[in-house]
Amino acid sequence: MRARAEVRVFETRAALARGVVECVVRVAQTAVATQGRFTWALAGGSTPEAAYRCLAAPPFASQIPWEKVHVFWGDERCVPPGHPDSNYRMARRALLDHVPIPSANVHRIPGERPPQAAALAYEGELRRLFGRSALPRFDLILLGMGPDGHTASLFPGVAALQETQSWVVEQFVEHLDARRVTLTPPVINAATGVVFIVAGAGKAARLRDVLEGPYLPDLLPAQVVSPVSGEVRWFIDADAAAELRPL
Ligand code: 6PG
Repeated sequence: MRARAEVRVFETRAALARGVVECVVRVAQTAVATQGRFTWALAGGSTPEAAYRCLAAPPFASQIPWEKVHVFWGDERCVPPGHPDSNYRMARRALLDHVPIPSANVHRIPGERPPQAAALAYEGELRRLFGRSALPRFDLILLGMGPDGHTASLFPGVAALQETQSWVVEQFVEHLDARRVTLTPPVINAATGVVFIVAGAGKAARLRDVLEGPYLPDLLPAQVVSPVSGEVRWFIDADAAAELRPL
C-alpha cells in the first residue's frame, strides 16, 4: 500500500475554495520572501473557479504581492483566449482581471495557434523564465482531477504520460475529439509544491482508486504526480472524500 498523500477534507465547496486560497497565499508569501518571486501554474476546468474568485476578493487579494507573481497554466484547450472553453479566459475573468498582476507576468498557452506551435512557444516561454537547461521548478502547480482520474491534460492511455524529455506537449484526446496542450510529468514532478483541488460525488470512486488503490498511472494519470523533491497535497470536499478510508 502506498503511503497516503496529505489529504484535507472540507465540508463545503466554499470552505474548500478558502482552504486552497489560504494555502496559495502562504506559498506565495514564502516564495517571494525567499526567492523574490512566486511562480504558479493554474489549474483549468471548473472546480478552481471558486478559489480564484475567493483569492481575487478581500481579504486575500491584498495578501499577495502581485507584482512579483508569475502565473502559467498546467494545460490549455486548443482554442482562442476568448473562447468559453479557454482555461486562460476562466482565470482572467475569475482572478487576473481583478488583481494588479503585470500583464508581462501572465504566461498563457497560446491555444489559438496550431497545437504543436503552441506547445513549442509555451515551452520556450518556460525556458525563458526558468532557464534553458534544468527542469522548471514551479513554486506551486494547482491541478484538478477528472472523474476518469486525469489531471492537467494527461488522460488515461495518452503518450504524454510516458514523456520524459519535452516540458510541454500537444495531443489529440480521442473521447473529447479535441487537441490539448499540457505540461508533462517531469515538469509537474519538478515542482516544489503540487496541490490538487477536487470536489463532487462524481469523483469519489476514482479518488479512492487514485489515493488508495494500486499504482496504475496509465489508467489513473493523477497517480503520476509525485514531486521528486516537493510535496503533493489534496484539498477535497466531503462529497469527493465519501469513499476514502476513514482518516
Ligand atoms: C482542464 C483541466 C482538467 C481539469 C479536470 C477537472 O483543462 O479541464 O486541466 O485537468 O482540472 O478535468 O475539471 P473540473 O474541475 O471541471 O471537474
